[in-house]
Amino acid sequence: MSYPYQIKSFDQYQQVYRHSVEQPEQFWAGIASHFTWKKKWDKVLDWNFESPDVKWFVGGKLNITENALDRHLQYNGHRPAIIWEPNDPDEHHRIITYRDLHFKVVQFANVLKNNGVKKGDRVVIYMGMVPELAVAILACARIGAVHSVIFGGFSAQSIADRLQDAQAEYIVTCDGAFRGNKDIPLKGIIDDALVQCRFVKRVIVLTRTRTPVSMIKGRDVWWEDEIKKVETMGNPDCPAEEMDAEDPLFILYTSGSTGKPKGVVHTCGGYMVYTTYSFVNVFQYEQEDIYFCTADVGWITGHSYIVYGPLCAGATTLMFEGVPTWPDAGRFWDIVDKYRVNILYTAPTAIRSLMSFGLGPVHGHDLSSLKVLGSVGEPINEEAWQWFHEHIGKGKCPIVDTWWQTETGGIMISNLAGVTPARPAHATLPLPGIQPVLVDEQGNELTHEGSLSGNLCIKFPWPSIIRTTYGDHERCRTTYFATYPGKYFTGDGALCDEEGNYRITGRVDDVLNVSGHRIGTAEVENAINMHGAVVESAVVGFPHDIKGQGIYAYVIYGNMHGDENLTRQDISQTVSRIIGPIAKPDKIQFVTGLPKTRSGKIMRRILRKIAEGELSNLGDTTTLLDPGVVEEIISGRL
Ligand code: WTA
Repeated sequence: MSYPYQIKSFDQYQQVYRHSVEQPEQFWAGIASHFTWKKKWDKVLDWNFESPDVKWFVGGKLNITENALDRHLQYNGHRPAIIWEPNDPDEHHRIITYRDLHFKVVQFANVLKNNGVKKGDRVVIYMGMVPELAVAILACARIGAVHSVIFGGFSAQSIADRLQDAQAEYIVTCDGAFRGNKDIPLKGIIDDALVQCRFVKRVIVLTRTRTPVSMIKGRDVWWEDEIKKVETMGNPDCPAEEMDAEDPLFILYTSGSTGKPKGVVHTCGGYMVYTTYSFVNVFQYEQEDIYFCTADVGWITGHSYIVYGPLCAGATTLMFEGVPTWPDAGRFWDIVDKYRVNILYTAPTAIRSLMSFGLGPVHGHDLSSLKVLGSVGEPINEEAWQWFHEHIGKGKCPIVDTWWQTETGGIMISNLAGVTPARPAHATLPLPGIQPVLVDEQGNELTHEGSLSGNLCIKFPWPSIIRTTYGDHERCRTTYFATYPGKYFTGDGALCDEEGNYRITGRVDDVLNVSGHRIGTAEVENAINMHGAVVESAVVGFPHDIKGQGIYAYVIYGNMHGDENLTRQDISQTVSRIIGPIAKPDKIQFVTGLPKTRSGKIMRRILRKIAEGELSNLGDTTTLLDPGVVEEIISGRL
């Protein structure tokens, strides 16, 4: 069975797209009418991109968990909501029906309440990929608390920064998390973070790895004990809090071109409508399909397309705790066969990493259940696209190349599987309701005939657009809405052909995309500079076979005695401690100076070219304070 708003043909797409642009309010009201509202909205949209101030479904009241859970109970309560595959294939998997999930969410919502969490409070969630992570998220939403999930690869310092920024007094975590052959001591990392965050009142700890942890009296409690307490209370219900469509649902921190991550805020109504609508249409989800998104819930992809989109659509979402290469590089394919997965959504970096093992790990797998493949997080190179298409999709599965961002909440530009044409390495056409435009450096819209190349902006709001950056609305304005007044600026460059097909070329700001993780160069520089002996540093990206982009750091080091490699390790460890292992530089080159303009600005363009190995065309270096430094850097290139 399909959904009333599911687009089934290219003609229909064109018709729906036209309608969505000509009458956006009528269009989105039609989609939103398929959801459960406690009170209908008074007005569909209020907006200006100057402040910015965007409101969808104004005056509407709802609770997203009633849409993700309660409304499925009557007919689909017995259906699997979450299939959970553990890290270790020998451990038992879990199948959680909608009825079970509803029960668990309500129960944990009561735990949160018992521990003092109220509507509007911020709750930081730092857990591994266990079903209780989804339970914790939904329980927050149930009572109107604002969740902020932090990816398990972030360090204590990163957690402390986020706790402070969000002024979060509550934390939900695990003793530890399994990732391949590693056991990450999550609770220990939280303890380190909390040394700086005395305002945290409660830490709820789920048992997963049985790693020894220290529990602080009055602050730390066990998840399991708290569940027992609500069990003995008798009333298993927890009414869904009435939320305004524009009340915040969650904060998710993401890197930008400045040194400090920003808390992207999404709200309840628009986010629900858009993630569900895009999930159904892009993947062409049909009821009973098994859908597997390999992302981590710590990133936006997990929020929108493991938890909220699929659950609001009543889908079966597979959650995987481990990594693609452990115990071996056939892990994904084992899972596809084990559950007869129909839709597989993953990242180019995972595909490239699996490609590097050759076809051995793919052989012996059936994979015939697959109908649709998807890619997200970075431009997918043609080679990876072809491999995925041929060896995993056996030439018969459409690949959706989905372009979007933390700030957009949902997929913006993508083909619709099997419905609109796919093209290798192209995100192709915008979803209904999305109005992209390319601009030149001056902000002029590029509209001439032929193919275009420019900076990608969106000129009209969509329901899941970022509303603000937590605690600093001005930052939201300057980052996204001030560069090209009247437009949302994505930070990405793109090409667009005559038929309107987009090809995203990558970031045009100082943000790197390393294995699909967004990392600001300034953030890495700040971390490197924390090392006692580092005088100055400059970080750029370079093409990396598996990660897409690698991190190249040029470092001026105070007094170099002893082994350079040990010093490199030392610097890497500093970065790991300040940000997390995901931000460790791939290459560290020691230099005595950096190319700077006379006004002291680092010429990153030159450093980027050197890191990329493009030495012939460095441009004009005569305006540099010390042109000689360029020669030195070239000769010391790694
Ligand atoms: C990049 C991830 C090309 C892009 C959902 C964007 C892509 C950034 C694609 C957002 C794609 C994401 N093709 N580039 N299909 N998908 N990107 O916030 O540079 O973690 O700005 O959201 O990833 O990363 P974020």
